[in-house]
Amino acid sequence: MQMEQLVALCKRRGFLFQSSEIYGGLNGFWDYGPLGVLLKRNVKDAWWNDMVMAHNELVVPSGAPSTYEMTGLDCTIIMHPQIWKCSGHYDLFHDYMVDCRETKKRYRYDHVLGRFVNRAGGRTPGIFVTTLETGNTQAALDEAALKFFGLRKKDLETLQWEGGIRSISTLGKDFSNVLGPDAKTHGTLTEPREFNLMFKTVIGALGSDEDASFLRPETAQGIFANFKNVCDSTRVRVPFGIAQVGKSFRNEITPRNFTFRSREFEQMEIEFFCHPSQSAQWYTYWRDRRFAWYTEMGLAGERLRMREHDADEMSHYSCGTADIEYQFPFLPPGEFGELEGIAHRGDFDLRSHMEGKLVKEGDGLVVERLPNGQPKHRGSGKDLTYYDDLTKERFVPHVIEPSAGADRATLAFLCEAYQVDTAPDEKGQPQERVSLKFHPRLAPIKAAVFPLVKKDGMPEIASEIYGELKKHFSVFYDDKSAVGRRYRRQDEIGTPFCITVDGQTVQDGTVTIRDRDTLKQERVSRDELVKELGQRLG
Ligand code: GAP
Repeated sequence: MQMEQLVALCKRRGFLFQSSEIYGGLNGFWDYGPLGVLLKRNVKDAWWNDMVMAHNELVVPSGAPSTYEMTGLDCTIIMHPQIWKCSGHYDLFHDYMVDCRETKKRYRYDHVLGRFVNRAGGRTPGIFVTTLETGNTQAALDEAALKFFGLRKKDLETLQWEGGIRSISTLGKDFSNVLGPDAKTHGTLTEPREFNLMFKTVIGALGSDEDASFLRPETAQGIFANFKNVCDSTRVRVPFGIAQVGKSFRNEITPRNFTFRSREFEQMEIEFFCHPSQSAQWYTYWRDRRFAWYTEMGLAGERLRMREHDADEMSHYSCGTADIEYQFPFLPPGEFGELEGIAHRGDFDLRSHMEGKLVKEGDGLVVERLPNGQPKHRGSGKDLTYYDDLTKERFVPHVIEPSAGADRATLAFLCEAYQVDTAPDEKGQPQERVSLKFHPRLAPIKAAVFPLVKKDGMPEIASEIYGELKKHFSVFYDDKSAVGRRYRRQDEIGTPFCITVDGQTVQDGTVTIRDRDTLKQERVSRDELVKELGQRLG
């Protein structure tokens, strides 16, 4: 599948629009259209239902060390600025960026890829032409090199490439031979500089630096900040998880790949609190449980993978981190993009919010201090330990964090669902068909209701059926154009079932129900439709 085809379908059928499009758009921001909002809501609802609502705390789930409880929260987007100081985001949540003095564009340092090239007979090492990561990086580099040397496509053979494609971060500090991704002359990129990804905002009318705060870059910290409130106001006992779905904001230097890297996006996060002695087992449980969830929702085996981080990739407090990754079609062949991270965070977060920002010292974590001995960022001073009244033990729970992106999951489900096959048209002739084969739980519209023709009492019966079904499911009524075309329109937006009222319905009260994937049509009594659809939708 070409990504452009999916992007075009998303716009044409109302899944996704560029934000502020009438003013030329705003890079890194996306709006969900009438179908997109239903799809993304279904993704979030499926997650919330499967992780929180349908979780049975009386039964030990397969692979879990014991029973556990799940509960939820909905925290504010703007929180006390000290939260971000203690969590480490204020000091450490940055990317390196380079600026182009010629084009005034800014790039994420590790995203700029290039290769040395020269004209036939030119001196080495030549020019390091660059581009941002794309599906076909070499093709983009070919184009950039031809443009730089003022050559045409037919002269491609005369270019002499040296070495492989690599990031500019491997070149050291000398960028004098580097041609920026959009520049005409070389040597215009600045040295890399740190750039904090949090969006700053001001609270209140005075607007001084003391009133500055941030839009949250993750939902997780709101959960840690409310750990004591949840323990004090409910009867939850460790082990238990707190789930939250909500917006997060990151001022990404190079937002790209459709919604994959956006500046405003939604996260679905769980902070799972457990006894330190059991945390390794809970980490394995959550890693496997979350992987299984994506497969249950329809992501195919070979495009979905689990990748355990190497020790040097992990945060200093983590004893295990795995990413669930998907092979998005916009990535170069063989590359995968992160859908969700599952991290063993130890007691880092609760201790940070008690004691102050922590840093690694030897094998342990200590409060980071200024030269005068004061904590660099003071904690709340509140007691965030947990007292187990059965074992009479007081401890700081360890945390396992499965952190998923609702937009990335929605994009992966869209990519996976997009399929082109053949299906017979109204005249029985095989025709190419585009369909979105969503899992029925995720499909924005569950069923469409059609009268075969607009006469003989069929529209009246069809509209009655539509009214009955609408009380239970998201359904769509369509009486325009030939029925074959109406099927195609529904296939293209992923509707799993189409219900048609025909001449026989008028006689015996049965309707046909057509399956999007098998194309099989079966007759069902209209009185049985709610039950039948309920069963088929799962
Ligand atoms: N609390 C941990 C945390 O936030 P993360 O790996 O930075 O971890 C978790 O983010 C998930 O949020 C990612 O796996 C991804 O699905 C989503 N995400 C992160 N940055 C994103 C962005 N710029 N655009 C869309 N989704 C993003």
